[in-house]
Amino acid sequence: MSFTVFIPRDTSALAAGAHRISALIRAEAKNRQLDLNVIRNGSRGMFWLEPLIEVATKNGRIAYGPVTESDISSLFDAEFYLGKPNHPLCLGQTENIPYLAKQQRLTFARAGIIDPVNITDYLQYDGFKGLQKALTLSSQATIDEVTSSGLRGRGGAAFPTGIKWQTVHDCPAEQKYIVCNADEGDSGSFADRLVMEADPFMLIEGMIIAGLAVGANQGYIYLRSEYPVAHAILNQAIENAYAHGYLGDDILSGGKTFHLEVRLGAGAYICGEETSLLESLEGKRGLVRFKPPLPAIEGLFGRPTVINNVLSLAAIPYILAEGGSSYANYGMGRSKGTLPFQLAGNVNQGGLIELAFGLTLRELLNEFAGGTFTGKPMHAIQVGGPLGAYLPEEQWDTPLDYESFSAIQAVLGHGSIVVFDDTVDMLEQARFSMEFCVAESCGKCTPCRIGSVRGVEVIDKIRAGDNTEQNIELLEDLCETMIHGSLCAMGGMTPFPVQSAFKHFAENVDAAITKQAGEQ
Ligand SMILES: Cc1cc2nc3c(=O)[nH]c(=O)nc-3n(C[C@H](O)[C@H](O)[C@H](O)COP(=O)(O)O)c2cc1C
Ligand code: SF4
Repeated sequence: MSFTVFIPRDTSALAAGAHRISALIRAEAKNRQLDLNVIRNGSRGMFWLEPLIEVATKNGRIAYGPVTESDISSLFDAEFYLGKPNHPLCLGQTENIPYLAKQQRLTFARAGIIDPVNITDYLQYDGFKGLQKALTLSSQATIDEVTSSGLRGRGGAAFPTGIKWQTVHDCPAEQKYIVCNADEGDSGSFADRLVMEADPFMLIEGMIIAGLAVGANQGYIYLRSEYPVAHAILNQAIENAYAHGYLGDDILSGGKTFHLEVRLGAGAYICGEETSLLESLEGKRGLVRFKPPLPAIEGLFGRPTVINNVLSLAAIPYILAEGGSSYANYGMGRSKGTLPFQLAGNVNQGGLIELAFGLTLRELLNEFAGGTFTGKPMHAIQVGGPLGAYLPEEQWDTPLDYESFSAIQAVLGHGSIVVFDDTVDMLEQARFSMEFCVAESCGKCTPCRIGSVRGVEVIDKIRAGDNTEQNIELLEDLCETMIHGSLCAMGGMTPFPVQSAFKHFAENVDAAITKQAGEQ
């Protein structure tokens, strides 16, 4: 009799020792003369349980985790390979683990279920249904479906995807491109990586549909260089997609063409900004371009280009397969569909949580975080990456949707949520924002390039108690100059975490200044 065991192969599981666990499980099965079929799947996104091992049973998959080397012998003794529950690491049916059961997984429906590079698995779980639909539609009808879904770009700016595609579609040009922004540089964000490592065909499918819709026959995935596992998995999936006729000169013998390549970034945060990314993709230094012209009109190599985040493109297969209105049924107001929130920082249960827009930050924290890792109270939450504001507890009842966040001078961005406990030094966090900008600024405009350096200096003076009031005023003035005078959102948003630290955490900032004064 053969048994099937799933052991994830994504970066987070590997960091927790999944390769070693896999090797030891195979060896132990051999010793015990058991016929064990090990499938290396993607992660379910419950990182605190990694390596999370699952066993296929007639009652669905049974999960065990987090598995360490020392658990392997006892797992076999308890006959885990039959899905037996009599082991302390047994978590029951994976689908019933509350963290997963409470989610609304549209984009991540297959994550952790399939072998990411096995196209048969992908097809078995509704893969390429969206493409099949798109092949029966006109390009305009495909764009209409995306527009009616209400999908807005998940890379941060939340621009309506349908409008972007329509612009590229309407541009007369012999050559157009689809570029996937997989630079994922925001602190605490990992949803793009999880798509690429757990379900890469979904991204490939989304890009093919985008190509058919706007008339582009070439796509590039611009991948951050720090993702070697995603790189290998993507390349393998692309090779398989070519081999099965989904990519190439005659997609599924329907006469349509789409080619796809992965290009590695060089480790600069600013290369996630779309125009800087295009420069880098063209082999130049990642310098932000002036807009207009928009990339949709003059993008890669001066040609009309759709540039979309991984999550935006990954949402497309569902939208085409199930219809735009089905996607639009999720969410609230102008924030339609779901957002894969990424919970990180000082929490017990970090991971990926896909939910419709609209629940509050507090609800999400209460339902999923499992408290802080340190056991101390949560104090400040940074949402939307390193350029997002720090939110104090009074703001945690804000619904997680684009407009509600914008109303409190915050951003949802790419959906990352980083939690800090009450030991955090908010003045240091404010300094870090300016310091980050010093390191990552592309240098093209003065408010950002020079302003961030001055910002660090002024914050240092404030900490040292040097003319505190005047320097706080100066910092405020500098922040306004950066917000209004910077060419792109790097310099334009760096002040958000700084201002929020001073505005909402004044006591914490004062305490840091007093402490420093006492130490002098
Ligand atoms: C400094 C900076 C960094 C950015 N980094 C990323 C990134 O890593 N990934 C991403 O998709 N978008 C990033 N963006 C947003 C992109 O410029 C762009 O809005 C996005 O790729 C468009 O795709 P979407 O419409 O699907 O969101 C960044 C923007 C700025 C200003
Ligand atoms: S704001 Fe900063 S990153 Fe953006 S163009 Fe200016 S210098 Fe470059």
